[in-house]
Amino acid sequence: MESAQEVKSRILEVFADKYGSSEGARVFFAPGRVNLIGEHTDYNGGHVFPCALTIGTYGAVRLRDDRQLRFYSMNFEDKGVITSSLDELKPLEDKNWTAYPKGMIWAFGEKGYQVSKGFDLVLYGNIPNGSGLSSSASVEVLTGYFLRELFGFDGITNQDIALIGQFSENKYNGVNCGIMDQFAIAMGKKDNAIFLDTATLQYEYAPVVLHDAKLVIVCSNKKRGLGDSKYNERRAECEKALSEIKTFLDVKTLGDLDEATFGKFESLIKDEVRVRRARHAVYENRRTVSAVEALKRGDLKHFGQLMNASHESLRDDYEVTGIELDTLVDAARKVPGVIGARMTGAGFGGCTVNIVKESSVDEFIEKVGEEYLNKIGYAADFYVVDIGDGPSEI
Ligand code: GLA
Repeated sequence: MESAQEVKSRILEVFADKYGSSEGARVFFAPGRVNLIGEHTDYNGGHVFPCALTIGTYGAVRLRDDRQLRFYSMNFEDKGVITSSLDELKPLEDKNWTAYPKGMIWAFGEKGYQVSKGFDLVLYGNIPNGSGLSSSASVEVLTGYFLRELFGFDGITNQDIALIGQFSENKYNGVNCGIMDQFAIAMGKKDNAIFLDTATLQYEYAPVVLHDAKLVIVCSNKKRGLGDSKYNERRAECEKALSEIKTFLDVKTLGDLDEATFGKFESLIKDEVRVRRARHAVYENRRTVSAVEALKRGDLKHFGQLMNASHESLRDDYEVTGIELDTLVDAARKVPGVIGARMTGAGFGGCTVNIVKESSVDEFIEKVGEEYLNKIGYAADFYVVDIGDGPSEI
């Protein structure tokens, strides 16, 4: 993989080419993320266990003396330089990638941090687009990070950047996401995953010690398409199920319930589909807690079993997997040396995350790649990844 310094000089060259010179431009990085377990629990007051990656988004940025904004992405060269201004920040109206940096400028303003000058920006990301590794949250956190640095918003912590990122995703981009992605990215720590209680935002770093195994991400190359609206639909189903349970039981979130209590009160939920949605939220939360315990005591085998169970629940109860992700997971499970395999992120396309013995990685790529191509008709991409730090200036 290209080093950060190599990317820096490449991105500064493009910056000079697009905007005249690169003098005074600063370069920042924010990672992508992968979630190991705890899926669709973050908006249900449950636990998540994601980690930041060493791949992510780079941005070269320089403040201007006026209120103009100029954006260029090396990932969307055909779009050219997109021009806007600080006076054109309209929630829910932007239809291209600039909605993410613009959403952050807007969200900073809403939170009392006025961005008073425009800037020129060049972005380059080495996260596959639309893969479910949070390329959009990476851009949001990157923007929050450089706004803080360039405007001296000293009171803002990385955790605040995560919260502002979620706010901008919810209100500017219209996706009712939870806090997981932005938090994992803003708070990332090399070789550690973050065990986060989304109800309280209490968190703990847990070293991910895989011994002779690797973290392998497989990208289905199925774009999310209708994913965002389905995502909001799942969230609404869970909220409705919770309100039905609340008619009898005093709980704040589905994450407050254990399996036995849920079993006792699930009949309060008046619809079979909603029962399954809520069951996933409750069980997945408990699985996540158990998985972190297993990892801490070095029981990778059990961790893998819980990853597998997570996928089953997302497939059968939450119904967010689809043929592409199921094919990848089924094929993975046939390869000896696979410790755990599951979809990761929102689902409806995107990626799977797998823990694979190092000695089996080549076979894994070959066998899973072949089965996927035969069944689905187009190829999957494979990434052996490392867990990296949160955002930084390069
Ligand atoms: C997306 C959202 C997150 C989370 C996951 C599912 O990545 O942005 O907040 O809900 O889906 O776990």
